[in-house]
Amino acid sequence: MLTTSATEPQAFKDAVRTQWNQSAKGWNDHTAQIRVWLRQATEAMLDMAGVARNSRVLDVAAGAGDQTLDIAQRVGPQGLVTATDISPAILTLAQDNARRAGYNNVQTLVADGELLPFEPASFDAAVCRLGLMFFPNPLKGLQELHRVVRPGGGVCTLVFSRPEKNPCIGILMSTALKHAGLPPRDPYQPGGLLSLGKPGLADELFRSAGFRDVATTVLGAPFRLPSARHYLEFIQSSASPIQQILGKLDAAAAQAAWSEMEERLDQFTTTDGWEGPNELLLTAARR
Ligand SMILES: C[S@@+](CC[C@H](N)C(=O)[O-])C[C@H]1O[C@@H](n2cnc3c(N)ncnc32)[C@H](O)[C@@H]1O
Repeated sequence: MLTTSATEPQAFKDAVRTQWNQSAKGWNDHTAQIRVWLRQATEAMLDMAGVARNSRVLDVAAGAGDQTLDIAQRVGPQGLVTATDISPAILTLAQDNARRAGYNNVQTLVADGELLPFEPASFDAAVCRLGLMFFPNPLKGLQELHRVVRPGGGVCTLVFSRPEKNPCIGILMSTALKHAGLPPRDPYQPGGLLSLGKPGLADELFRSAGFRDVATTVLGAPFRLPSARHYLEFIQSSASPIQQILGKLDAAAAQAAWSEMEERLDQFTTTDGWEGPNELLLTAARR
């Protein structure tokens, strides 16, 4: 599906929606680990977007709503968080999680981030945590954020940085492609996990969308888990392109690929468990 992103954006988005519908439960089941992994980045993202008490905040590609609940806590009962996502299944989990946590200031709406169903200047701030890189046309997504945030409002997005700084993604991808007999892929391919990691690209897109005061902060965010096997379980239960590639192999061939990945990922095993290096980009701007 990744090869179709530039030429057939609608087919690409349909595939993304289907995958996240299927992986919604898996992503939600890993909330505790994701929460620890992204805690510092999430706090920084909300600070940089200017999410404050009583704000009206848009959360794009909200997934199962982990960061949505943090926003709900920050804005308080007089504020409002609108969580949107292209996948209805994962957004239902976000709504359930908000209800269970007792937040009445969260609303959810299924929406493509490149086509937001809101009036201009509807929000004080907007965030997008690990979502924008999946958009076939991220500029369109940013133009939409620019339209729906009020003048002076803040926006902050979080995406993966360069391939060299996110080596586990490269290991997974190269192993999967090799076992599937496919050629290597450009890591910066639109719609891929690392598509917005090229230095300077996010800033350029924000400026092209009309934002001012654009700045990107680089943040190390190692993913700490008990073992490489736990990381693979996380990958297997979330909607990754790796699943797409290996899904075409028979069970034994897919298992051989997973085993080789585990072997290669073992290089990140430490005396305290497993620590996969990751680097993230927080891009903040003002409308
Ligand atoms: C890695 S998850 C991140 C979820 C959540 N923000 C988090 O950090 O836990 C990526 C999310 O992006 C959503 N997504 C992908 N493409 C999208 C699009 N074009 N519009 C809206 N959401 C999209 C997926 O459905 C998925 O829920």
